[in-house]
Amino acid sequence: MPSHDDVDAFLTETLVGSDPTLDAALRAQHDAGLPAIEVAPVNAKFLHLLTRIAGARRVLEVGTLGGYSTIWFARAVGTGGRVVTIEAEPANADIARANLERAGVAGRVEVRVGRGADVLPTLVDEEPFDLVFIDADKESNETYLDWAARLGRPGTVVVLDNVVRGGEVADAGTSDSKVQGARRGILMLGSDPRFDATALQTLDRKGWDGVAVAIVVDSSPGR
Ligand SMILES: C[S@@+](CC[C@H](N)C(=O)[O-])C[C@H]1O[C@@H](n2cnc3c(N)ncnc32)[C@H](O)[C@@H]1O
Repeated sequence: MPSHDDVDAFLTETLVGSDPTLDAALRAQHDAGLPAIEVAPVNAKFLHLLTRIAGARRVLEVGTLGGYSTIWFARAVGTGGRVVTIEAEPANADIARANLERAGVAGRVEVRVGRGADVLPTLVDEEPFDLVFIDADKESNETYLDWAARLGRPGTVVVLDNVVRGGEVADAGTSDSKVQGARRGILMLGSDPRFDATALQTLDRKGWDGVAVAIVVDSSPGR
């Protein structure tokens, strides 16, 4: 009986394929000692397609790591598009910038160094973002979702990553702060009238997890 790893390998090979630029980016970040916590290739392609399906030209990402998902977004928005990505660790941001440069998309990506909670308020005067991807410290999910609604517009797509966490999200009594953050994120998406959302469980080379996808149905007062 094939395992879910076999299925992941088949889907990745068949639908994503290998790409020397992305392979080099992953090698560079792994060689630099960054943890292998980037999105799996099938998920990266899902985000890329979602961006294209939404016709998004302006993408906001919280949590850059070495820029793997950022490259996928940058390719999706095309030459006239823009990606702003926020990373707390300066060393990660340096690796991401080098990866984006090598991928030929640095001109359409701005890497902002700082904590999401500090950088997001500085973006209020920008044009609204069409898609927001939240993939940083899970404890801050509610803060990031709030900013996603404020910095978006009705119709903005919001994606919240790692919301299932091996099934632990269903444990209301969890003491794990990351799981609590995932739970609070889901609860907010279910109750905040600014969002209409769902979530899908995923099973890929990174194990059992999931992704929430929402649309902003109403932006915050003041936008
Ligand atoms: C899961 S990784 C991002 C992976 C990346 N999106 C990808 O798929 O290639 C999470 C990143 O968020 C960063 N991070 C953690 N806390 C943060 C914060 N408060 N603000 C911004 N970034 C943060 C970490 O340093 C790490 O690089």
